[in-house]
Amino acid sequence: MPEIKFYNRAPVPMEMHKVKIVQKLTLLPAKERLQKMYDAGFNTFLLHNKDIFMDMLTDSGVNAMSDEMQSAMLRADDAYAGSETFYRMQKKLEEIFGIANLLPTHQGRACEHIIAQHLVKPGNCVIMNYHFTTSKAHVTRLGAHVEELVKDEGLVTKSTLPFKGNIDLDKVRACIAKEGADNIAYMRLEAGTNLIGGQPISYENMKQATDLAKEHGILTILDASLLQDNLYFIKKREESMKDKSIREITRMVADLFDVIYFSARKFGFGRGGGILVRDEKLFHEMEDYITMFEGFLTYGGMSVKEMEAMIVGFEETMDFDVISQGPQFIAHCVKELDALGVPMITPGGGLGAHIDARQVVDHIPSDQYPAGSLVAALYLCGGIRGMERGTLSEERNPDGTEHIASVEMVRLAFPRRVFTLSQTEYVIDRVKWLYDHRHLIGGLRFVHEPKTLRFFTGKLEPVSDWPEKLLEAYIADFGADQ
Ligand SMILES: Cc1ncc(COP(=O)(O)O)c(C=O)c1O
Repeated sequence: MPEIKFYNRAPVPMEMHKVKIVQKLTLLPAKERLQKMYDAGFNTFLLHNKDIFMDMLTDSGVNAMSDEMQSAMLRADDAYAGSETFYRMQKKLEEIFGIANLLPTHQGRACEHIIAQHLVKPGNCVIMNYHFTTSKAHVTRLGAHVEELVKDEGLVTKSTLPFKGNIDLDKVRACIAKEGADNIAYMRLEAGTNLIGGQPISYENMKQATDLAKEHGILTILDASLLQDNLYFIKKREESMKDKSIREITRMVADLFDVIYFSARKFGFGRGGGILVRDEKLFHEMEDYITMFEGFLTYGGMSVKEMEAMIVGFEETMDFDVISQGPQFIAHCVKELDALGVPMITPGGGLGAHIDARQVVDHIPSDQYPAGSLVAALYLCGGIRGMERGTLSEERNPDGTEHIASVEMVRLAFPRRVFTLSQTEYVIDRVKWLYDHRHLIGGLRFVHEPKTLRFFTGKLEPVSDWPEKLLEAYIADFGADQ
């Protein structure tokens, strides 16, 4: 996006699109939100969408489509087998990534399931710059373990480092020496590292890490779900790449990897997923899992309409204007909140603005879920739905103790092309109010705790009557109808 200059005021991020279709929003009165929160077991995943004003839970499957994407749906070729839509999708992905072998899946975790199921054996190690919830769960489920080898500075919440997602090459060398290359199922690098705040990884670091893996015969896998934000940051922050087009950068990144997979709920602005496999033999071995778990090889569980829209979405991802909007809105939100004294993960990354919950509610012990408490409070005080990304999102240790997350965050996702600047300003205002009243927020405890991915469906309760007290203060300032 060109940085549009202003005559008489400081520049603000600009939407490089206009609105054609809208969805009405409702802001429930404060006390009704309190009841909804109790009904949802203080878990924002269990709220109903109709009860939410600003849905910043995720960008997954809720990015706005363009007119071109919507209209492409009409040409979808409905066929169980041999749909032309699939061949168009394959051709577009080959054009962008240079790999022709495509396995279609219904979403990102389906790719992770198939990759892990085929490549991971009990006792194996999988190297990652950082884990994502589902990518780790699929590995540990098979009796293997994940080594997260992000550079230490990637976990420093307040920073000016441009590429906090970079993997530490010394740690990789040490891990290979300790585990033995034969025991390492693969190295998975995640673009736009989700759980440390949508932080990018540089091209240079990807190149060095994949070179090292190849030296030891280790398979290299790119999780490209958040690649679009990462591409923006490579172009903006990596000096040697600033004159390259997004298409050129994408191809350079792709050329480093043996396997590339993506959630098309993010990459491509649709709902689906896919795995690109360079090696013919590996590709054919993995095909069996598609027909067993996903669907036939030319749709993989996706609607052909979505696939057709996605093809346009992949092309739009190569447009710098399109991929700039998310990171620029996020940077604005992070900068404003940081200036207001709210502890934020800096610099702003992709995907969303991330609040450093451990700092905000430092009076809440980690085993009472500081980020879980803060995200619940934010719904109560403003109807904003964010996502907990901290200890609650971790699985317990094998001995049943809590696995305390290294970073405790509340994520406010910016689904692409969805929110306006005035909505962003509202969020900034409510977060600031909550920060100024943070001492009123208390902890949570589980009343129903699922064994796997507990953050999705677990139910909790407040450890005291803090939600009622917090809401009293909120109503005193804003009135009961907001
Ligand atoms: C980096 C990353 N990988 C994988 C996934 C899983 O994708 P999906 O939600 O489509 O299953 C996600 C989802 O948020 C993600 O952010």
